Amino acid sequence: MIALPNLLLVGGGRMGSALLAGWREQGLSQAVVVDPSEAARALAGEGVTVVAGAEDIPPGFVPEAVVLAVKPQSAASALPAYGRFAGTALFISIMAGKTLAGIGALLGGGAIVRAMPNTPAAVRQGVTVACAGQGVSAAQRGLAGALLGATGAVAWVDEEALLDPVTAISGGGPAYVFLLTELMEQAATALGLPADLARLMARQTVIGSAALMAASAETPEALRVAVTSPGGTTAEALKVLRADDAWPKNFLEAMKAATERSRALSG
Ligand SMILES: NC(=O)c1ccc[n+]([C@@H]2O[C@H](COP(=O)([O-])OP(=O)(O)OC[C@H]3O[C@@H](n4cnc5c(N)ncnc54)[C@H](OP(=O)(O)O)[C@@H]3O)[C@@H](O)[C@H]2O)c1
Repeated sequence: MIALPNLLLVGGGRMGSALLAGWREQGLSQAVVVDPSEAARALAGEGVTVVAGAEDIPPGFVPEAVVLAVKPQSAASALPAYGRFAGTALFISIMAGKTLAGIGALLGGGAIVRAMPNTPAAVRQGVTVACAGQGVSAAQRGLAGALLGATGAVAWVDEEALLDPVTAISGGGPAYVFLLTELMEQAATALGLPADLARLMARQTVIGSAALMAASAETPEALRVAVTSPGGTTAEALKVLRADDAWPKNFLEAMKAATERSRALSG
């Protein structure tokens, strides 16, 4: 259990509210959430005040950390209002593609950590990769790790450019797993299984495999080999998926495309 400082959360949408739920579990003392949406009112509760705009933050509230969880396209209009905390608070941004330099320019400076979480944060099973900007102290890095760690695993990279492949792999990763689930379901119905059984099989196979991986000390490769008897049915399927290295090559190409897109959208 960590002692959480006074927090200011800017944007209480999907990601912001997942973080807030994690902090609540960690024993949050006081937080102010800024979010104009009607839905965000529901986030108010013990120690948590929700306001519609930066101008409504209670005057005596001094945040030690400001978490920026608005959409990247809202950054230019939303961020300058928080520049007044730049001298005292640590800023943690989870906005995709918003660089340390870009955020610093909008805030007029400050200690900034840029992080890329993913949606399993909503069930405390996320992975967040973070990069600290200049002027972030060891204590602030520890604070960022604790705050981001409330929704799952946290890792750090020293080079900000690595957040582009991180965005491709773990940021978008849940989508690839969901696509695999969809494809399994579609294949099952195409092979004659009833729709509800196809859905159950696809979902539970992905959920069960993830749980098995979480519970096992084995590598994913060893777990795969354990399901694959030589000359058996799974081996036959894997032979098709890996023919001419098709699946591995395609996947790498997809990750390169996402990395490139992340670079192009950065600013
Ligand atoms: N979802 C992901 O997989 C994922 C992964 C990694 C990083 N991220 C990043 O996380 C951030 C939030 O994403 P999300 O999916 O949580 O988006 P979201 O659900 O749309 O949440 C953003 C929230 O901010 C509110 N908002 C809009 N303008 C604001 C302002 N000026 N001040 C304060 N709040 C404002 C929005 O209200 P309205 O709805 O009324 O506009 C909404 O409630 C994004 O920057 C995204 O790049 C998301």
